[in-house]
Amino acid sequence: MAGSVRDAAPEETGPAVSTEVLQRVFKTLSDPTRIRMLALLEREELAVQEVMDVLGMAQSRVSRHLGILREAGLLRDRREGTHVFYRFRPPEVPEWNEAWAVARRSFDRDPLSERDARALARVIAHRASRSRSFFDSVGPEWDALRKVFNDDALRARAIAQLAAPGLVVADVGTGTGILAAELASLGLRVIGIDSSPRMLEAARAKLGAAGLDVEWRVGEAQALPLADAEVDAVFAHMVLHYLPSPEDAFAEFARVLKPGGRAIIVDFVPHDAEWMRAELGVLWLGFDPADVERWLESAGFSEVQSETFEVSSPTRELPATFLTRAYRR
Ligand SMILES: C[S@@+](CC[C@H](N)C(=O)[O-])C[C@H]1O[C@@H](n2cnc3c(N)ncnc32)[C@H](O)[C@@H]1O
Repeated sequence: MAGSVRDAAPEETGPAVSTEVLQRVFKTLSDPTRIRMLALLEREELAVQEVMDVLGMAQSRVSRHLGILREAGLLRDRREGTHVFYRFRPPEVPEWNEAWAVARRSFDRDPLSERDARALARVIAHRASRSRSFFDSVGPEWDALRKVFNDDALRARAIAQLAAPGLVVADVGTGTGILAAELASLGLRVIGIDSSPRMLEAARAKLGAAGLDVEWRVGEAQALPLADAEVDAVFAHMVLHYLPSPEDAFAEFARVLKPGGRAIIVDFVPHDAEWMRAELGVLWLGFDPADVERWLESAGFSEVQSETFEVSSPTRELPATFLTRAYRR
């Protein structure tokens, strides 16, 4: 049948491989430093200083390569006050995907890959130590400090999402146990987890005095002291902005949740309240709920939903807050 679709030559129907795209791919990936950077930024969102620390390179060199990667459309950046954080955004063009898979496989066999992974772990541990030392020194005084957050209504709302008595819930980054106390009063079985033993001591004393029964465990959000599928719900109330790698914590939340279990995250939307770094030891100035939703979806959650609330405080102008909830698939 002359002129039918079946007679058309395959190269006329399939997408043409653009020589220009290929040249760009190979040019960008031809430099080993850029491969190292992409491998790092695929794992973790990093500031320029952190990339310099991991690679042990000067700012001029790191900035030049980051510029090339940005120009090629491979990086997503997020601005926080004076810092810019970069993340490798997987390219949507097949040529990029295929070439990156080959480059990545070959780099994984290079001893530098292991060296970079160790250096990255040190940089992330350094982030964690900044917030840990803040809470270890603050301890029970946190209740006074947190009075700037006039967030009782929001918290009650978070709890209302999961009020079925008898469920087992983890309150990650429980602090002085304010949320844990409310959950326990509603008849939930609560495991309060915090990386700071001092905060947990304060929580134990306060809730013990109130006759509330909560189990306390010291541990990190990114390596929770919980068995696989141990809990029905995970709450993370105002803790994400203290985590060295918030994205990684979601994979851990998925691990400890039963299938169909819930994650409930409450935190600030992006803001420029720099005073929080100094006065409250925060690592991140808020999050775009769309990023949090995407991280949850990649970690194995579905039916992800967010709401944003204005928060009013009599003492301080506060950023708006979001509540994101999702189900473990
Ligand atoms: C802002 S307080 C919030 C406490 C509580 N959720 C509330 O809303 O009152 C943050 C808590 O997270 C804890 N934290 C910080 N980094 C953590 C981590 N990596 N893993 C677990 N807890 C962490 C701190 O020790 C602190 O108690």
